Amino acid sequence: MEKDYSQAIALSKRYLDLIASKELDDAEKYWVVKETVECFRNHVNPGFLEYRKSVSTDYTSVEWKDGGNTFTDVYGREFIDCLGGFGIFNTGHRHPRVLQAVLNQLQRQALHSQELLDPLRGFLARLLAEITPGDLQYAFFVNSGTEAVEGALKFARMYTGRPTFIATTRGFHGKSMGSLSATAKGVFRRPFLPLVPGFRHVPYGDAAAIEMMLESCAFVGEDVAAVILEPIQGEGGVIIPSDDYLPQVRELCDHYGALLILDEVQTGMGRTGKMFACEHVNVVPDILCLAKALGGGVMPIGAIVAREKIWDKLIDNPFLHTTTFGGNPVCCAAAIATINVLLEEKLPERAAESGKYLMGELQKVVGRYPDVVQELRGRGLMIGIEFQTNELGYEVAKGLFKYGVLVAGTLINAKSIRIEPPLTISREQMDQVVERLDKVLAEVDQKARAAGMEETAGHIL
Ligand SMILES: Cc1ncc(COP(=O)(O)O)c(C=O)c1O
Repeated sequence: MEKDYSQAIALSKRYLDLIASKELDDAEKYWVVKETVECFRNHVNPGFLEYRKSVSTDYTSVEWKDGGNTFTDVYGREFIDCLGGFGIFNTGHRHPRVLQAVLNQLQRQALHSQELLDPLRGFLARLLAEITPGDLQYAFFVNSGTEAVEGALKFARMYTGRPTFIATTRGFHGKSMGSLSATAKGVFRRPFLPLVPGFRHVPYGDAAAIEMMLESCAFVGEDVAAVILEPIQGEGGVIIPSDDYLPQVRELCDHYGALLILDEVQTGMGRTGKMFACEHVNVVPDILCLAKALGGGVMPIGAIVAREKIWDKLIDNPFLHTTTFGGNPVCCAAAIATINVLLEEKLPERAAESGKYLMGELQKVVGRYPDVVQELRGRGLMIGIEFQTNELGYEVAKGLFKYGVLVAGTLINAKSIRIEPPLTISREQMDQVVERLDKVLAEVDQKARAAGMEETAGHIL
């Protein structure tokens, strides 16, 4: 029997009409929310509905458009974006110049032939060589952070011929097999064991632990190809190591003939107040992983940028590692525009200044609630607030959502919440965030005290 496609045709037409519409009427808004929830329940993953119910005051809030430093749900509720897509939206949402570059490129050629030389890939690689630290020279383009890490790991093995990698506890590098092997969180790794062999994890921020591991691996004949690190751990809760950590690790790598891979997928492109976080301590990695903000919050693109020597075998055979869509013209156009915007608008400098201001204002507020907040830490606009308990952090993230501020904090992971707004966030918006946080902290503090008093009364009675 022939398959009946009439429903698929009608649905796709309705979806396309919605995509094309500038404004939705009330009936359309209602339908978009209902259809989205149903599609997620039946065809994406009902788990997301449960998750959204837990982190939001209204789990049917469905995002619809964005611009500047905010996004808006289907019903027109605006949120200040302090999650920043975990580091995607450094240049803001749909920066006009990034968008224009993409539209211009789309009108000429979307994807490349896969055979001829595609100019934008060359242009972007050259630009990256210009802006990355030290003598990083060659770039290989991919579509995501995890692919950037996969490539970096493969290139390290290819170059050194060695089997072992040293990664760090609380590190996050992605979830495909290789990058997950470097990632440290048991809950993400356990269901997929065994992962790629040869990974050892040592405590983050401890150069002596790396030295011991380098030494024992050499001793047992399993020499280390590379040490892979985030200069500041993002997913781990904005963990900033001491300033001598990276320089010491660099020296150790050189001593033992291991490469240093820095994963700047989240810290890169101006987030921490310098274009790359390793520039705060003048360390040049052998391989740098980029993604997230590289595409300007408009297109997905990642990159592996490396020293010349790493490319030796790839030059002999450029097909040793390939990807169909990596470095396509539209994504490269977005990345070229992103670099231009970051530089011309001095966004790394702006992140440093805004970060200083925001940290100062946040400190004044969180200092008033020591029973709720344990610590505030950050560099540039990569800021983490650590709470006394996971539950308190979760209540704060939920409260902020209610007042129109999105931060990264979930029911299962809210002990530290991350604040990573676009680097373009205005002074007024930062003030609004601080004001709303103050309100939420007061509410959470009061609720916690009331609960504490009830418990004490219960004991006395
Ligand atoms: C430091 C770091 N590396 C790698 C990744 C993985 O990137 P992606 O989700 O694009 O695969 C992330 C994502 O959060 C990250 O923060």
